[in-house]
Amino acid sequence: MENKDVYILAIESSCDETAAAVVKNGREVLSNIISSQIDIHTLYGGVVPEIASRKHIENINPVVRAALKEAKMELKDVDAIGVTYGPGLVGALLVGVTQAKAMAFAANKPLIGVHHIEGHISANYIANKELEPPFICLVVSGGHTHLVVVNDYGKYEVIGHTRDDAAGEAFDKVARAIGLGYPGGPKIDKVAKEGNENAIKFPKAVVNDAPLDFSFSGLKSAVLNYINSCQMKEIEYSVPDIAASFQKAVVDVLSEHAIKACKDRKINKLAIAGGVSANSAIRSRMIEECKKNNIEFYYPPIILCTDNAAMIGSAAYYEYIKGERSDYYLNAIPNLKLGER
Ligand code: KG4
Ligand code: ZN
Repeated sequence: MENKDVYILAIESSCDETAAAVVKNGREVLSNIISSQIDIHTLYGGVVPEIASRKHIENINPVVRAALKEAKMELKDVDAIGVTYGPGLVGALLVGVTQAKAMAFAANKPLIGVHHIEGHISANYIANKELEPPFICLVVSGGHTHLVVVNDYGKYEVIGHTRDDAAGEAFDKVARAIGLGYPGGPKIDKVAKEGNENAIKFPKAVVNDAPLDFSFSGLKSAVLNYINSCQMKEIEYSVPDIAASFQKAVVDVLSEHAIKACKDRKINKLAIAGGVSANSAIRSRMIEECKKNNIEFYYPPIILCTDNAAMIGSAAYYEYIKGERSDYYLNAIPNLKLGER
């Protein structure tokens, strides 16, 4: 490892947050600026890709400037520029990638393309200074549900994934069906606190013969069917009970599979990452289950669970010290696989 401090300016624009951060030595956040577009997308009930791209273009320069200012740095002071180049919305990713390439070229700085999920996983390095691989990470976001063995920095083995909807997508779709609106995850989290999680028995989001995989579309359909049948029978249904029972079904499968992965691989460190890991029921269940099973549990603060650039700066640092560099042909790859470069 280099003995000089390394400062990374990182940029994230894969979905509906325009974000920039300065991170020191992969673990210390000097600034973390996030400009959320949630208000505008809420009007449409979800992220509108074309609007997201346009908003990123408007926001990217002020956001990057604010990140440097808050870190009390200028572009010339940073060692490298890290940027999310996939997966995500292509038009949204392109804004960040183009910005990073232009800045790297103008200031003659190394450019490091980062996988968005690698960023989510790395949020745990910022939050837990002592965390080192190997560990198991459950990545649950709006677009992804992966169980990953982090064998080393930047070395991932995906041992479980969703066969259909991502966990966050299920939260968002169910929230829409019960009239809570977008983004659904935080709203279900809140309303569920008023409900009875045992009121309705929804099916387990499992896949036969693939004990670490997930399938959330059946669970989502079961919720929709429940609502339809109540409406047809003119029975009043309880939104808090549906939210709590649905959330319990998600939490059950996520925690069971994550603990199983730790046991199967004989790794007693478990981390969670991604927007859905902000969920209060998931966090408290994982704390409980890990304690029962003698597993150390790691989780980022809420601000580092949902999309941000600090996590990208952390991931970029570990690539930087390995000597990984991207060239000016770096492009946005909407369906980039974890572990590919
Ligand atoms: O990681 P993220 O910000 O973006 C992606 O990479 O997808 O995750 C966004 C997802 C959304 O589906 C949102 O509803 C969900 O994370 N989410 C939550 C909570 N906060 C955000 N889901 C459940 N409970 C929450 N508290
Ligand atoms: Zn994300």
